[in-house]
Amino acid sequence: MTSRLGSDHLFHKHGTQNWTLQPEVLDLIAEKVTPDMQTLETGCGASTVAFAAAGANHVCVTPSGEEMERVRAVLDAEDLPGTVSFAIGPSQDVLPGKTGALSLVLIDGGHGFPLPAVDWLYTAPRLDIGGTLIVDDVDLWTGAMLVSFLKEEPGWELVAIRRGRTAIFTKTAPFALNEWTRQPAVYRRSVWPQRLRKARNAAALLARGQFRSFAAKFGHERTMSRNRSDERRDR
Ligand SMILES: C[S@@+](CC[C@H](N)C(=O)[O-])C[C@H]1O[C@@H](n2cnc3c(N)ncnc32)[C@H](O)[C@@H]1O
Repeated sequence: MTSRLGSDHLFHKHGTQNWTLQPEVLDLIAEKVTPDMQTLETGCGASTVAFAAAGANHVCVTPSGEEMERVRAVLDAEDLPGTVSFAIGPSQDVLPGKTGALSLVLIDGGHGFPLPAVDWLYTAPRLDIGGTLIVDDVDLWTGAMLVSFLKEEPGWELVAIRRGRTAIFTKTAPFALNEWTRQPAVYRRSVWPQRLRKARNAAALLARGQFRSFAAKFGHERTMSRNRSDERRDR
């Protein structure tokens, strides 16, 4: 199967390891990607070969020139179309400021905090509505956080999570980066911890007999809460 070309190759860690996508996700790339598509991935390896085999106009972002050389060797050996370009550098340096519409994005670069989210931040605005976002290694906390956020965020639809490892989303609305009160996943997790913290502080003011400070805080909180309700209602 051309989508799995190079999937047993040791592309990673100076040619000693293979950290490739699971085979069914390589097959998914082959199914979804057509030569008219503009695609981008963070990370490099057999997935890059799969994008090339599908004929996509593809950008691969990796800090490793060595990985690029190994992938290029496979592309040359398999006589695959020269539609892949490499951007060498960490995605957090390479992606900001880049423009151009994308039909599919694969996030599988750095997995440390907050890299999957950074990759999302700089590619999601470029993704077409109806475009596909694939996030690998969502069993890692950094990937899991992004998935928990997107599952509740308007404008994103979870299509599937394959074998607990790879999440697939469709972008359904123009990109928006809202304040936390308008991000359902963030609001739901934050509103009660914040209320409890404020209640504890208010109780401490009362216990110390600081009634003026308490009244001032109470008034301020009522205004803030009213503003927030208005904001949420007007959405
Ligand atoms: C899990 S591997 C990618 C596997 C690849 N998708 C495949 O199917 O073979 C992770 C990749 O992320 C790259 N990487 C590490 N830190 C990165 C960063 N900050 N930006 C972009 N890529 C990074 C590594 O060099 C490696 O290619």
